[in-house]
Amino acid sequence: MEGLKSFKAQGGLCPPCEISLSDEIFGLFQNLIYTTAGIRLSSQKKGLLSSRLLRRLKKLGIDSLYEYYRRVKDDSDELVEMLNCISTNTTHFFRENHHFEYLKNKIIPELLRIKSSEKTIRIWSAGCSTGEEPYSIAITLCEALGDMRGWDIKVLATDISTKVLDAAQSGIYEYEAVSDMPEDIVRRYFLRGAGDNIEKIKVRDFLKDMIRFRRLNLKDGAYPFKRKFDVIFCRNVMIYFDEGMKQHVLSMFHRHLSENGHLFLGHSETMLGSNGFKSVFITVYKKI
Ligand SMILES: C[S@@+](CC[C@H](N)C(=O)[O-])C[C@H]1O[C@@H](n2cnc3c(N)ncnc32)[C@H](O)[C@@H]1O
Repeated sequence: MEGLKSFKAQGGLCPPCEISLSDEIFGLFQNLIYTTAGIRLSSQKKGLLSSRLLRRLKKLGIDSLYEYYRRVKDDSDELVEMLNCISTNTTHFFRENHHFEYLKNKIIPELLRIKSSEKTIRIWSAGCSTGEEPYSIAITLCEALGDMRGWDIKVLATDISTKVLDAAQSGIYEYEAVSDMPEDIVRRYFLRGAGDNIEKIKVRDFLKDMIRFRRLNLKDGAYPFKRKFDVIFCRNVMIYFDEGMKQHVLSMFHRHLSENGHLFLGHSETMLGSNGFKSVFITVYKKI
């Protein structure tokens, strides 16, 4: 890694922000990432992988991707760090807002009827990234229900990346992230920072208390849930998976959804074949 060495000698920041990566070593990472997380990296992602790992290598003082690969192979904590570096976490509040409208107008009224004696609602945001999706779900629940007294309502939010889960758990965002939301919603569910933090907002505690954040790898053979979910959101996550991994995840969702439960996928993730689901709205499926 000549480039990185001379760049280190100069003591500056890496001008190209990329380390050269042979096809062979890229293949090792491709396999490792696929067997660990089910994420298929196409060969076009070579540059992206090396630029994303560069910062980590610099932090560890490692100057070859092969050396880093050997380290990751034997060190499960470093494997988690690598997954933090390579995962794509783009998200925002009320992304694909028609899904939240459908949740509020169609699914929640249905759940209030079906669950009127049990009085529990469980929603899972799988691949929650930095938390905007589960917080949008929790806000939708509060807005739809008004008075939640007597109801036991919980949102589980999981991701493979510990880095995004830490950000989600903090509930702190740039004010910009909520600037498109109606002002009364922002006031009800967020606190604006003061002084140096004027450009930040923080999710109010009562909203955060509705959500549990946990690390979960969707590739795992078994998911650790005793109770079933009424609704599962897994949006813009399966685009990174191949067909086998998608089938695994869909069958797990089917198993962990309650009767007539709903599954929300991302806008480009249509379901081929029935998989035990029927389409009821734009990329929303009902368990059959
Ligand atoms: C693009 S974000 C989607 C965030 C949100 N669901 C949305 O639609 O706005 C994809 C998320 O999936 C997570 N992810 C990727 N592979 C995963 C896996 N095997 N298990 C769990 N989460 C995974 C990534 O860490 C990332 O945070």
